[in-house]
Amino acid sequence: MTQLPLLDDLDVDGRVVLVRADLNVPLDDGEITDDFRIRAALPTIELLRERGATVVVCSHLGRPKGHDPALSTAPIAVRLAGLGGFPVVHVPAVVGPVALAAVEAAQPGDVLLLENTRFESGETTNGFELADGLAELADMFVLDAFGSAHRAHASTVGVAERIPSAAGPLLAAEVAALGEILHDPPRPYVVVMGGAKVSSKLGVIRQLLPGADLMLIGGGMCFTLLEAGGFEVGGSLIEESMVAEVKELLESEHGGKIILPLDVVVADRFAEDAETQITPAIGIPEDWLGLDIGPETSEHFASVIAGAGAVFWNGPMGVFEMAPFRSGTEAVAQAMAATSATTIVGGGDSVAAVRSLGLEEQMDHVSTGGGAGLEMLEGTILPGVAALGRWIEN
Ligand code: 3PG
Repeated sequence: MTQLPLLDDLDVDGRVVLVRADLNVPLDDGEITDDFRIRAALPTIELLRERGATVVVCSHLGRPKGHDPALSTAPIAVRLAGLGGFPVVHVPAVVGPVALAAVEAAQPGDVLLLENTRFESGETTNGFELADGLAELADMFVLDAFGSAHRAHASTVGVAERIPSAAGPLLAAEVAALGEILHDPPRPYVVVMGGAKVSSKLGVIRQLLPGADLMLIGGGMCFTLLEAGGFEVGGSLIEESMVAEVKELLESEHGGKIILPLDVVVADRFAEDAETQITPAIGIPEDWLGLDIGPETSEHFASVIAGAGAVFWNGPMGVFEMAPFRSGTEAVAQAMAATSATTIVGGGDSVAAVRSLGLEEQMDHVSTGGGAGLEMLEGTILPGVAALGRWIEN
C-alpha cells in the first residue's frame, strides 16, 4: 500500500496552507454544469479552517493556452462560497505581488482561491519560477487533487518539493480505495469496463485482468472485442487498428475472464429518435449499430455484480445521454447500489451516470479522478503522490 504523509500530521494552526484541489469542472458558457469536484474538495477546506489555517486554494481549469478569461476560476470561488457557507476571496493572480498581498491580508479561517494555475506557462512544464512563487505564498502545502496527481506540474509536484507537504483526506481516500482493489480486493473481484474506445482503456484492462476474477465489458468498446472474436457487428463503432491487439488479449492466459454482451440494443442511426431493436450480440444485422447492452446482458451483469466481493466500474454501458440507450448503464448502477460488495466507481461518465441516478451515496467510493485513476490502476506511481514521499517521517 502507498504510504503518504497526512494532513493530520501537520500543525496548521495559525499557518498559511496552500491546497492544490482539482476544481477542473465542466463549464457551459461560463456556467458550472457539474460541481461534483467542488463538493469533493470542500471537507478538506473546512477541516483546515476549523484547525485555524489560512486556506489558499489553487487549481487548474480546462486547458487554456495562456490567459483565457473564459477559464477564470472566479465562478468556482462563487460556487465554493455558496456550497461552503463561508466567504471565498477570488485572487486574480496565481503568484506574484497581487497573490502575496492577498495572502498577507488574510486571517486564519479565511479562504482564498487563486486564478487558474494554467494561466502561467510554468504550470505544465513544472517551471521552477512558478513553483518558487507558489511555495512563497504558504508555510505548508496539501495536495488533495487526486484528479491531477498524474500530472507532474508546478502546482502538484514543484511546490511539494519546496515546502512541508502532506496528502489531503480526499487524495488519501482515493489512493486507499484504488490501492485496495489493485492489491487486495475482496473476492470475487469483478471489473466492469465500458466507454466508447478500447484504445484508451486497453492499458488498464491489461493491468486489471490478471487480478480480477471476471471482467464484464460493455459500451462502444465491446464491438471491437466482438469483431476481434470473429462476430458480425453490423455498422457498430469499431477501432479497426485495435482488432489484432484485442484478439491477442482475448486469446491470452486471462482472456477467458472477459464476459462480452449476450444481446445489444441496436439502432438504424445514431440518434435519440432512431428506430431500435434488440439483437444477439454475435449477429448484429448489417447497417444497424449497437448503442447499448441488451436486457439479457443487463440481467446477467447485475447477477454477477450481486455475487461479487468487490466491483470496480469504469465507463458507461451505452450512449447514456440518449434515453433509448440508457438502460444498460442504469442496470449496472442499480446493481452496484444494491450489492453488498465493495463498490468503486471511477471515470467521469460513469460517475456522472451514478450521480444523475442519485445513487452516489450507495457506492463505497466514487472517484474524482479520470485519467489519474486509470493511470494508478495501470500500476503507475502518480508523480504527485511520489513527490509527497520526501515528507514521510521515518
Ligand atoms: C481531469 O479532468 O482528468 C483532471 O482535472 C486533469 O485534467 P487534464 O487532463 O487537463 O490534465
